[in-house]
Amino acid sequence: MHTAAPAYQSGFANHFSSEALPGALPQGQNSPQQVPYALYTELFSSTAFTMSRSEVRRSWLYRINPSAKHPAFTRLPKQINGQALDRPNPNRLRWDPLPLPTSPTDFLDGLVCMAANSPADKVAGVTLYQYLANRSMQRVLFNADGELLLVPQQGRLRLYTEMGLLELEPLEIAVIPRGIKFRVELLDGEARGYLTENHGAPLRLPELGPLGSNGLANPRDFQSPVAWYEDRREPVQLVQKFLGELWACELDHSPLDVVAWHGNSAPYKYDLRKFNTIGSISFDHPDPSIFTVLTSPTSVPGLANMDLVIFPPRWLVAENTFRPPWFHRNLMNEFMGLIQGVYDAKEGGGFIPGGSSLHSCMSAHGPDAASCNKAINADLQPQKVDQTMAFMVETSQVLRPSQFAMHSRALQNDYDACWADLTPTFTGPRS
Ligand SMILES: [Fe+2]
Repeated sequence: MHTAAPAYQSGFANHFSSEALPGALPQGQNSPQQVPYALYTELFSSTAFTMSRSEVRRSWLYRINPSAKHPAFTRLPKQINGQALDRPNPNRLRWDPLPLPTSPTDFLDGLVCMAANSPADKVAGVTLYQYLANRSMQRVLFNADGELLLVPQQGRLRLYTEMGLLELEPLEIAVIPRGIKFRVELLDGEARGYLTENHGAPLRLPELGPLGSNGLANPRDFQSPVAWYEDRREPVQLVQKFLGELWACELDHSPLDVVAWHGNSAPYKYDLRKFNTIGSISFDHPDPSIFTVLTSPTSVPGLANMDLVIFPPRWLVAENTFRPPWFHRNLMNEFMGLIQGVYDAKEGGGFIPGGSSLHSCMSAHGPDAASCNKAINADLQPQKVDQTMAFMVETSQVLRPSQFAMHSRALQNDYDACWADLTPTFTGPRS
């Protein structure tokens, strides 16, 4: 087994090349008759072969055992918690942080579904989970249903993936392509965070339009692992999620045995603190799409299957402006989480790190009464919004909360009350 501190290659979905042993990566062709170190060749494609050149994601893996060498998968008796969806619900919903487990729980056992926009057996849109874990995975997982976006809120993680190691801490995110095998080790004993399953087109950087060629999340700040492998010839459980269900088989070796790889389908991580935040330097503020880190497009231009949007530390300098997020109603469905600090539209409390909220299509929302009153009466000096990081996954299809989420004690029954004190301040005549 070769364990080492994670090392990274920079760039977004670049055509990376990496080898854990010198000379392991074939040169000049992808599938030579005999591979260095007598490895097996495998093509891993997370998009269709025939996507356009700019869309296609694929990597060549050179490994000790081909992935095809496995016995039959059998359906696991224990499935992911809370995947049954409740009725669509137009109400604004908010949850307290979910409690950490008290019995041994790994990342997979500790997943709970909060919302989705299709049933688990019909893969479309997104599925939103939280993870709550207190022990490292001994088994290895891959997800046939979509790519996975991890947003840690508490506790560092080490991801052992087929293509190498990624270490992740709160304020960083990671994306694991559909189908990549991995296990999650906890570095701090306990971990809580958010997991989004993107069933649509792979996440990518948003277009920049008039912003030009720089800004927001810059490609060089994304990090993919370098090749790393373990040659463990002992029983390892391999779990796959397939149309919402967990299936497993017992391998006689670790499937994390890729010695060399090249290609542009690979896990990656990104430090949200590196986001180049852009905003108004005159008056008003742009739509929150200005904070988009990654997007999964649909076939309709400008309409996202999902966007990952963050609300990072930033200066507010707009003059004569209501500076918090405005009151709004819109097409998209917004699931939010708070990684740390206070979100500037909810200074009245209730939106707590580790908590979450759901504002569905056309539901009216915006700053709570405390934030609104403060903003209207503020002496507008340049102000730093600091020590905070909220994020939003927004999706164009209506999210249905899970039955777990609707019956959880973490569901706040009084969320509407945060807007109740917005009494009329109208100064005109009553009609
Ligand atoms: Fe919103």
